[in-house]
Amino acid sequence: MTALLATRVMRADTASVAEAARILTAGGLVAFPTETVYGLGADASNGRAVARLYEAKGRPAFNPLIAHVLDLQAARALARFDADAERLAAAFWPGPLTLVLPRSGQCPVAELATAGLDTIAVRVPNHKVAREILGAFGKPVVAPSANISGHVSPTNAAHVLADLGGRIDLIVDGGPTPVGIESTIVACVGKPVLLRPGGLPRAAIEQTLKHVLADAPAPTAGAADAPVAPGMLAAHYAPRTRLRLDVRRIEPGEALLAFGPELPEHAKAAKLALNLSARGDLIEAAANLFSHLRALDATSAAAIAVMPVPGDGLGEAINDRLRRAAGGDR
Ligand code: TXA
Ligand code: MG
Repeated sequence: MTALLATRVMRADTASVAEAARILTAGGLVAFPTETVYGLGADASNGRAVARLYEAKGRPAFNPLIAHVLDLQAARALARFDADAERLAAAFWPGPLTLVLPRSGQCPVAELATAGLDTIAVRVPNHKVAREILGAFGKPVVAPSANISGHVSPTNAAHVLADLGGRIDLIVDGGPTPVGIESTIVACVGKPVLLRPGGLPRAAIEQTLKHVLADAPAPTAGAADAPVAPGMLAAHYAPRTRLRLDVRRIEPGEALLAFGPELPEHAKAAKLALNLSARGDLIEAAANLFSHLRALDATSAAAIAVMPVPGDGLGEAINDRLRRAAGGDR
């Protein structure tokens, strides 16, 4: 059990950024906004701080973390970039893209943070507050999404407080996160592979690479302790309430997660209906996804009925998260 901490929530400003850097230096845990979702930061080079982070999240220690740095130059100290990785970093950093690369010889990140792998996930976030904290701290920060392991990612400070209040030192509140869905993860260890669809659509990456991006091989049963993309367990991002996907008709007692202007049959009977985007905009839908799931999860509905969402652009990542949320048998 983690000892109960007094979790402070501070509005993002010069004072809270300085306080965040101070806490990170002291081995503490700070949640802060990025353009994708809120992250829970710890000093990447401090094994004890990283261990506290795993404990606060209830995260299995075989699931490695993303190291966040200010720029490409800082990333080069952690990992080896091949030509494809160079191209992707030049095109999309700072931004919602994480690269999984071979760990460099002198990489200062704690072994625990990379779960003993010889690769490391690196990301240069594009959010004012995240960048100010990285700048003030001056070293790499490992930051998973700031939720209890297996729960829906947080897109505002209230979500973080609900999950991690009493378990972490500080939440820097910078308002809702603009993208709303986690970064896209591409491994550049040989041929580039898409490990996780996310806030940067596949088409943009393929355009830059000038070829089609391979998908991660499906996880094999029984290999759960050494998965290719360790965090991509089937039952991830799960609300407590069961999800029913591709719904065209609402059943009694269900809540509705809608998409677009045309609602399914019996929509009016839903316990609560929230629309990802009434005008059918996938960018707006991604930004709303996790907060709508949390709100619908709180209604104690029999199930959350989810309308079909198109699979192009950010729709690939949205559908991925919905399938995972539906996959858990809780
Ligand atoms: O948008 C984001 O990426 C957010 C913000 C806070 O930056 N972070 C985030 O972290 O989503 P997390 O820990 O929730 O997800 C990181 C994923 C996990 O699925 C993990 O297994 C995978 O990245 N990962 C990390 N290191 C890896 C590695 N060396 N090889 C393969 N997958 C890795
Ligand atoms: Mg996560």
